Parts: sequence; structure tokens; C-alpha cells
Amino acid sequence: MRRKLVAGNWKMHGSLAENEALLSGLLAGMGNVKAGVAVCVPFPYLAQVQSILANSPIAWGAQNMSQQAKGAFTGEVSASMLTDFGCAYVIVGHSERRAIYGESDELVAEKFAAVQAAGMTPILCVGETLVEREGGITESVVARQLDAVIAKCGVMSLAKSVVAYEPVWAIGTGKTASPEQAQAVHAYIRAKLRDLDATVADGLVIQYGGSVKANNAVELFGQPDIDGGLIGGAALNVEEFLAICRAA
Ligand code: PGA
Repeated sequence: MRRKLVAGNWKMHGSLAENEALLSGLLAGMGNVKAGVAVCVPFPYLAQVQSILANSPIAWGAQNMSQQAKGAFTGEVSASMLTDFGCAYVIVGHSERRAIYGESDELVAEKFAAVQAAGMTPILCVGETLVEREGGITESVVARQLDAVIAKCGVMSLAKSVVAYEPVWAIGTGKTASPEQAQAVHAYIRAKLRDLDATVADGLVIQYGGSVKANNAVELFGQPDIDGGLIGGAALNVEEFLAICRAA
């Protein structure tokens, strides 16, 4: 049985005061949440988040990381810096990183490997743009993104990872993929991996991301291959995020 995981992706939002209010609200409401819960926060707030969430049921992590271990890489943050602050998860290959910062499939695979080498769990984002969906190449885009990681790290590496299917056209747009559209891609991912290793395929947590809200989470998470969500905007609101966690 896969345990569902709901992860908040705060993106470039927050302040010391806002984070404190959000996290104390979440902690107070975790009583009837059975799913795993994590928040992926901006780098400067990792120390704050670690001190608030230590010994709590909520894990934390980062939204990006350098593939390099250390050195003259101005502005970058390494894996060992993240483990210093207790990070359990690192999002890699978010569509905003791919589109705005030009991260290639190969770079994402290098980051994935570096996250795992440091003992953290990568949340690998995959997903198609609207043009790609309309062009009928959703599956081949997702396959290409997964294959880059499999080529570098092997299929067994996915056993210690989370995959987030995030159709780019659904991120931050209020346009959620329908439960059927999402389930179809999730089932495709699992079937593709099953051809390589059935145990990895059946054990892999595949989150859905893209305009998940309290009012659509139950239906999305009720699909057989959707194992929770990666939540952007709704992760910044205590009641919304808790309702999504309870839905999982
Ligand atoms: P959204 O973002 O929930 O605001 O659509 C999801 C994501 O980008 O991970």
C-alpha cells in the first residue's frame, strides 16, 4: 500500500511572520491527517522551518538544489547545505525551473542523483505544456523526462523518489486536469515503469500537481494511481492546505 504524500511548494512566497503563522496553524490541525505531509520552502527560511517543525509530523525540504557538491558556483546551494538544515525532500525539475531557468532533462537528472546521494528524497516533476498536450505528445514528453533520470540513475533509483505529474497548463492557472485526465497520465507512468521493474512501479508515489484545491482534492486523490499532491497556491493557506491533507 502506498502512503499518500501531500507536499506544499511555497515557491517564492513567505516571510518570517507569515511562515510562523502558517506552520503553527498547520501543526495545530494535523491531528486527523493520515497522509504524509511536507513543505518545500525558500532557502533563507530553512532554519526557521527546521526549528518550528523539528519532531513534528510535517517534513520539510527545498525547491531546487545545485548538482555540484561545492565550489565557485555563485548563488547556488548544495545538498550538504540542505541536509545541515534537516531537509528530507528536494523538488527537482519543476516546470518553472525548466521553463524560466532553462533546466534540461539532463541537468534535472544530475540534480536528482545529487539529492539521492545526500540521502534526501527527490520530488521529480514531469509534465507537458498546453501545446504539447494539444499536439498529442503528452505521453512522449513525460516519458522523455523520466527516461533522462532512468538513463543516469537507473530505474531502481525511483524506489527512493517521488514523481509529481504536473501538467504545465494547470499550474497556477486555476485549470485543474480532470481526475480522468490526471489518472490517465499517472497510469501511463506506472505502466511504463512496470515494464522495467514491477516493484518500483507499484511502490512509487506519484503526486498530481496543478491547481489542487480543497474542493477538487478528494476526487483527484480518489483515483487509483494518484498518491497525493504537490500543492502551490493552496499550500499558503492553513485551512486550504489542511483540507487537502485530510482529503489524502
Ligand atoms: P499550483 O502550483 O497548485 O499553484 O497550481 C503547483 C506547483 O507548481 O507545484
